[in-house]
Amino acid sequence: MNTSVKEISIQEFIKSKKQVLDNYLDQALLYSFDNEKYKENMQNDSGSASKLWAAMRYSSLNGGKRIRGILCLAAFEAISLNSPMPADDNSTNLDLNKVLPIAAGIEAIHAMSLIHDDLPCMDNDSLRRGKPTCHIAYDEATALLAGDALLVEGIALCLKTDLNPASKIRVIEELTASIGARGMTGGQMIDLEQTANEEASLEELEIMHSMKTGALLKASVVIGGIAAEANNEQIEALSEYAVKIGLAFQIADDILDQESNSELLGKTACKDLAQNKTTYPKLLGLTESKAKAKELVQEAKTALLKSNINFQPLFSLADYIVERQY
Ligand code: IPE
Ligand code: IPE
Ligand code: MG
Ligand code: MG
Ligand code: MG
Repeated sequence: MNTSVKEISIQEFIKSKKQVLDNYLDQALLYSFDNEKYKENMQNDSGSASKLWAAMRYSSLNGGKRIRGILCLAAFEAISLNSPMPADDNSTNLDLNKVLPIAAGIEAIHAMSLIHDDLPCMDNDSLRRGKPTCHIAYDEATALLAGDALLVEGIALCLKTDLNPASKIRVIEELTASIGARGMTGGQMIDLEQTANEEASLEELEIMHSMKTGALLKASVVIGGIAAEANNEQIEALSEYAVKIGLAFQIADDILDQESNSELLGKTACKDLAQNKTTYPKLLGLTESKAKAKELVQEAKTALLKSNINFQPLFSLADYIVERQY
């Protein structure tokens, strides 16, 4: 092993990956048109096409923790480098063209989910990432279409990866399963049905959280593994890790909704209470919810260690998911 390996902190790891993702998305979501008439339209800022792109950029380049993209990049590094710590000199040798378009695509898809989650017919929220939500900054129809377009552009971005065709198909299969009716969209439907349902069980809540939030988080990690040509055992371990942190992530989101404030969160605090959402704190209380999230993080780490995936950022990211302040 190279003795000049420079260990980096998780804050630096997150910051540098976020920067790479932000830059990539900024370039990838530029207006581009082949059609001359559209081009003309684009010159005019009030053109409908430029309004759509502006709304897409407003909601996808406006901060965000980029946790899904970062997890995807971290899983890719974990398998590619197969060493406990990322090293400046090692990671520069990685073929980022295999994974970066996918990690950025996942973030575009996540941005779609937030736009739609905030719509009046869903959670009816006015604040997201510290700014007015898309339908307030623009209008409802534009927000709906910006979400649709980000979903499709996100998948198209994933297809820009340098992976071989077979791996590409695996990536798209994993991704689409995680955001469709068996994943995020299905989970959001259950969320609406469970709102103000005083009969909801813990089991139903776990299914809902695992689908609406856990599924895309899990796909992000597993896809990072696929992009790095992980073997079956490694994919299993990454998958187990990601299922645990995916659930922990939404439990933490539920806890923050109650304990934090809108300024820090960048979104309306105490929204779940106001809408009588079925959440972990509602069913278990805050103390037990925190214990549950911590337990899941431990289980996630154990899953990695069982398969000798000993990559510090994946452990630290699991901690960060429950210890974060927003
Ligand atoms: C918020 O996700 C929506 C949930 C699934 C709980 P994030 O907390 O990752 O939101 P950003 O991307 O950092 O804004
Ligand atoms: C949103 O869950 C899940 C998705 C966007 C798929 P929440 O409704 O709890 O997310 P926030 O709290 O508005 O970010
Ligand atoms: Mg919601
Ligand atoms: Mg919401
Ligand atoms: Mg929430």
